[in-house]
Amino acid sequence: MSTLSVDQEPVDLYQPSSAALAAATIKNRAEQTQIAAGNLEGFWAERASEYEWFEPWEKVLDDSRAPFYQWFVGGKVNIVANCLDRHCSTWRRNKLALIWEGETGEVRTYSYHALNREVCMFANVLRSMGVHKGDRVTIYMGRVPELPVAMLACAKIGAVHSVVYGGFSVEALHERIEDSQSNVVITCDGGYMNGKIVELKKISDEAIRRAGSVEHVIVVKRTAHEVPMESGRDYWYHDLMSLPVARTASGNSRCETEVMDAEDPLFMLYTSGTTGKPKAIVHSHGGYMVGVGTTLKWVFDLKEEDRWWCAADPGWITGHSYIVYAPLLLGATSFMYEGAPTYPYPNRWWSMIEKYGINVLYAAPTAIRGLMRFGEAWPNRHDLSSLRLLGSVGEPINPEAWRWYYRVIGKERCPIMDTWWQTETGMFMITPLPETSLKPGSATFAFPGVEADIYGENGQPVGPGEEGFLVLKQPWPAMLRTIYNDPDRYVQQYWSRFPGVYFTGDSARRDSDGYFWIIGRVDDVIKVSGYRLGTAEIESALVSHAAVAEAAAIGLPHDIKGNAIHAFVILRSGAEYTDQLINELKAHVVHEIGPIANPERIEIVQQLPKTRSGKIMRRVLKARALGLPEGDLTTLEE
Ligand code: WTA
Repeated sequence: MSTLSVDQEPVDLYQPSSAALAAATIKNRAEQTQIAAGNLEGFWAERASEYEWFEPWEKVLDDSRAPFYQWFVGGKVNIVANCLDRHCSTWRRNKLALIWEGETGEVRTYSYHALNREVCMFANVLRSMGVHKGDRVTIYMGRVPELPVAMLACAKIGAVHSVVYGGFSVEALHERIEDSQSNVVITCDGGYMNGKIVELKKISDEAIRRAGSVEHVIVVKRTAHEVPMESGRDYWYHDLMSLPVARTASGNSRCETEVMDAEDPLFMLYTSGTTGKPKAIVHSHGGYMVGVGTTLKWVFDLKEEDRWWCAADPGWITGHSYIVYAPLLLGATSFMYEGAPTYPYPNRWWSMIEKYGINVLYAAPTAIRGLMRFGEAWPNRHDLSSLRLLGSVGEPINPEAWRWYYRVIGKERCPIMDTWWQTETGMFMITPLPETSLKPGSATFAFPGVEADIYGENGQPVGPGEEGFLVLKQPWPAMLRTIYNDPDRYVQQYWSRFPGVYFTGDSARRDSDGYFWIIGRVDDVIKVSGYRLGTAEIESALVSHAAVAEAAAIGLPHDIKGNAIHAFVILRSGAEYTDQLINELKAHVVHEIGPIANPERIEIVQQLPKTRSGKIMRRVLKARALGLPEGDLTTLEE
């Protein structure tokens, strides 16, 4: 390690170990970046040719209807043909695709053959229920193997999955079922988290009652506690899988993989944006496949023999791309754990790394900070020597947590890949490669073929060290295609702030060595423990309580969570402030959205700072709470 001075501050520079360099798929990033810069389409075509296509594409990139870019136009493909079918015709059929450990300690493993068989049978079940190509299916489950099975089964028959994070609650789920117009919901009786049962079926029932469109509910038995089953609507997964409908007419457990256009939708995933309701980001079969497969291979050097653990939840983009699709595309072995990192003790993660011989761990800074709190003795009790690389995602990692992760978990051998990306980008965008010299807290450089820049208010690039808006100046294969049912919002939200350029919603700066430093969101999105929440969702949950007239939510810095939610509430006349009311309001938000949205603090106020047009000035609330200057107040009317 050497120290150099950047922007007046001393920053440690961590050179890649010779072992990491020797193993690296890409040994010279600059060279690849140059190749992509010279011929973007050729660069991605070469990556795409590593996969199997039913029919080749005619054009790599069609920008004639920009910003509705199309990739691999005319190509016929199905991501599942590449995740499963392809491997099952080789020796890899007998290799482990998935290792799963439940919070309660049970272990399940699936070879590629076994996973494919389960997916085929469940795909047959879905078809028998009338699920067709293009239909949306909502999946609301805990972290169990049937979750990836359900996703892959949908994709296999061309249905569009809409996974709703299992930590969400009634209203969040209701909104997402309704917006996606799903007729089928797949859920569990319950899930284990931190020694408790999450009542997934009960929450589904309440959400479905509010939504009204759902015809069939498929329930995976996980906890086996008593749940009501509505006859004619609810079916047990294990019952369906043992029926003839799970098999072909001739009785075997195969299922034809649907031939899809490269641009056909693969899934939609709701995420919080600037205003109003969460919006469904749509990803496609072809480009998404090429993007996630390539990035996992290059950034984490995933090898045939590797055991990969992405510790995110499959209900978020990180889990979609890097628990389910990309590791299977590469024929790797993916590990998935159901529960809390500290259950029953703070060594749970470290003991599983030792037990399964995990080679690469990819986790969120909030989890690292949470585990760091318990001290070094817990990880030091375990043999972590199988680790080769580490990863970070979801929010900026503070240098202190970075150094702890590097020293205590990686034993100063494992480079940390701090990957910046979004639900919308589908794949890593700004990230080190194992050959990159690292600075703790910096996501380093744009992936080859990705052109990132930082703009000032006026749409001009800012100079070194200056803060500005992070933008992406060129399309990439795994990019979102649209917002479901709202193409105008797609254009308005992402492509209008600076015409022709993708607006990320993040602020960042670049130092004089060209390293990117992500600062945080510039819109009304709050990152709580790496989870993305919109102020509008929290506010609308609060005002749905009878005692609340108006509400405003902001994020304030928090040691472990990164940001915590602080809410300001104006009560309706007649409602009175009591501690009990505050607790009731918190419980109400948890019931409507989920435990991640639980406000750290709710303050009762008489008025809220607003613009003359009536928009709440959250930035003023934030400045006041932090004791900072309130900035330009010319539009303020309180
Ligand atoms: C933030 C998660 C700093 C950022 C994959 C982005 C990060 C938002 C990083 C997207 C990182 C993600 N460093 N910030 N390495 N990774 N972010 O859609 O604000 O849940 O815009 O996707 O997370 O969150 P999302």
